[in-house]
Amino acid sequence: MQTEIIKVHTDSAGKSVIEQDAIERAGQIIKNGGLVAFPTETVYGLGGDAFLRDAAKRIYAAKGRPSDNPLIIHIAEIAALERVAEEIPDSAFRLAERFWSGPLTMILKKKDEVPLETTGALSTVAVRMPDHPVALALIRAGGGFVAAPSANTSGRPSPTRASHVEEDLSGRIEMILDGGTVGIGIESTIVDLTDEVPTILRPGYITAEMLGEVLGEVRMDPGIIDADSGIAPKAPGMKYRHYAPNAELVVVEGPAKQVTEEIKRLAGEGLSSGKRVGIIATEETEQQYPEGTVLCIGRRSEEETVARHLYEVLRRFDELGMDIIYSESFSDSGIGQAIMNRLLKAAGHQVIGVL
Ligand code: TXA
Ligand code: MG
Repeated sequence: MQTEIIKVHTDSAGKSVIEQDAIERAGQIIKNGGLVAFPTETVYGLGGDAFLRDAAKRIYAAKGRPSDNPLIIHIAEIAALERVAEEIPDSAFRLAERFWSGPLTMILKKKDEVPLETTGALSTVAVRMPDHPVALALIRAGGGFVAAPSANTSGRPSPTRASHVEEDLSGRIEMILDGGTVGIGIESTIVDLTDEVPTILRPGYITAEMLGEVLGEVRMDPGIIDADSGIAPKAPGMKYRHYAPNAELVVVEGPAKQVTEEIKRLAGEGLSSGKRVGIIATEETEQQYPEGTVLCIGRRSEEETVARHLYEVLRRFDELGMDIIYSESFSDSGIGQAIMNRLLKAAGHQVIGVL
């Protein structure tokens, strides 16, 4: 299959100019059961009609993803929630009012009409309304309900630009809408509203504190707090080692100065034993590493910039061909929590602590 790539232009003010023609064609592909990759504010998604069983099957096949890992249904208006979910608690509408369109996914009881293929055989459904003009236009043109996982091959870092999607899925899907680089860079926060206490299944840009302001009580899924606890994460997708680069990745934790020293030492050791060593550094520290392949992931003082570049840096290291990568670690609050969640997963939880 030939994958058509369509650039969505930006005007002089940097706003997306959506070519209605292209969007209409993309929407038609979705309605016909085909697949279109599209930008959202978090990462690129791989979209198919959420009500078509075969579209879900094609998504799993294109990504090489296990079919027990459910998809998120993307909608373009809050009112559409009631077409896919039932017994919706009041809290869901309050969250939608506050955070949609935006990087928040809610888990709710699913309506019978939603195929089990879309929900990975679960009786619940994940729903989100993305904050990106191209995503919203595509969802509308495609009939209003687009099931979309991140548009990467299963196990690879999520795509933050169209070229990443092309690398992974070219020849396997009908179309890629190229809307440039995404703004946030890591996937949406997932909150489960089917539990007694609302539970965060995947941390993201919308933090526990922000959710707490609307919900009162909110807790973290015990399965994602401690990888060694033996408790399985509730979101099926969180149990896989994913976002992973080809090289071994080790996260070094501790006070900033000691971390830099330890990484310098480890890198030196690796290099002298003939390994190709990568280092994930920050703007604050990149000058301090005299050897190894150093990539800057963003500004530590502004962790949003770290989130934005995380997956791109992991992919870049794949291109460069490393044997081992040492990464600095980030804070355990705010967006730092989401960054560390993805980084530790990518590292298969290989951590070195320094004092
Ligand atoms: O930001 C995002 O959420 C991106 C963009 C494209 O919207 N999408 C995304 O989808 O990250 P995906 O498929 O890569 O991750 C969806 C996660 C998986 O971990 C999956 O297991 C979980 O959501 N999930 C989906 N439905 C669920 C359900 N009913 N119950 C629990 N977890 C669910
Ligand atoms: Mg994903």
